[in-house]
Amino acid sequence: MYKYIYWYKFASPTQDYKPVILLTGGSSEVGVATAKLLSSHPEYRVVVTARDTATLILQIPENDHVWIMPLDIVDEESRSKAVEKIFERWGRVDIYINTSDICYRSSLEETRDEDDLLHMQKNYLGPVSLIRTLLPKMRKNGKGKIINISSVSGLLAFPTMSSYSASKFALEGAMESLWYELRPFGIDVALVQPGFIHSAKHSRIKFSDTKPNQEHPYEDMYTSMIPFVASLKNRSLSTPQSIAELTYNVIRTERPPLWVPASFDAEFFYYFKRWFPRRVFLPFFYWLMPNSKNWGHRVTRKHDTIWGVRVIRNLVRYLQRRATVLFGAKKNT
Ligand SMILES: NC(=O)c1ccc[n+]([C@@H]2O[C@H](COP(=O)([O-])OP(=O)(O)OC[C@H]3O[C@@H](n4cnc5c(N)ncnc54)[C@H](OP(=O)(O)O)[C@@H]3O)[C@@H](O)[C@H]2O)c1
Repeated sequence: MYKYIYWYKFASPTQDYKPVILLTGGSSEVGVATAKLLSSHPEYRVVVTARDTATLILQIPENDHVWIMPLDIVDEESRSKAVEKIFERWGRVDIYINTSDICYRSSLEETRDEDDLLHMQKNYLGPVSLIRTLLPKMRKNGKGKIINISSVSGLLAFPTMSSYSASKFALEGAMESLWYELRPFGIDVALVQPGFIHSAKHSRIKFSDTKPNQEHPYEDMYTSMIPFVASLKNRSLSTPQSIAELTYNVIRTERPPLWVPASFDAEFFYYFKRWFPRRVFLPFFYWLMPNSKNWGHRVTRKHDTIWGVRVIRNLVRYLQRRATVLFGAKKNT
């Protein structure tokens, strides 16, 4: 969709220098696809970073415009060392692309504190701190782009993904604020928001080492959500390659938008959340989740109302409140 809406704003670099792109999380599936795509465009110079560069170098060969560099996004020293080296060799960073992430599965109750912290460090604090290091120099150039691969989980929080969603919400909030702050300096901020991507990521998803709980209160939730998400991912038309192509289009776009939904489901969730009344939206989504009416049934008795009835009751209450507000406003005028 993006390609068709923004085609008239696409431009190739015309400067007398090749813009420098810094890509973190280069070993992620989306990272590798983006790095491969960018390395086929010699009009850019690209620095691809990962913690383990040995495997990355086999996938993306280095040359005069592709540079593979070790960088651990959560390590302050590693971040500043990498930035220093890039400025020493190429003198600038014009575009920063962040694809780093981790995603553990667990209910909030069963998530370990250290896993919450790891999500925040990897998905939010690390990238934001790197942006902070880059900004003084990018600002002086009077142009540039900061592109984050976010997620639909930065718009909607799904059950058993609280840490991941919290870190993506944090990233989205910070980038929205940054969009305003950098507008006077000609630096664009964009959040590419994939929904479900057809990738092998699902098989690698880890679980927070849960605190032992004999009751297994969330077991039904896990056993319904895991195959559900896996099947949505398998059916998705969106791939790491399509996300890489979209990111490339964002790079080429003059003044790209802040929010760039990156798949059909992401577009759907984006408009659904904006236009649907929240009182209805949450129960409706709960109802859509697989087998949700039986979640927790072994340890709670709180399932005495039929779903459809509860949704309609909430809708009626919502309409009643809206009507009261409207009539009240008329009386006062
Ligand atoms: N795949 C999807 O279905 C999907 C859906 C929506 C959004 N997204 C977003 O798209 C981006 C790329 O996703 P992806 O699926 O391509 O990622 P991925 O293949 O799962 O890559 C994971 C990345 O996380 C790092 N990592 C793994 N374990 C770590 C640990 N214990 N500590 C620190 N770092 C660790 C790795 O970097 P190192 O090499 O440096 O270790 C690697 O680059 C992410 O921002 C993600 O949120 C993906």
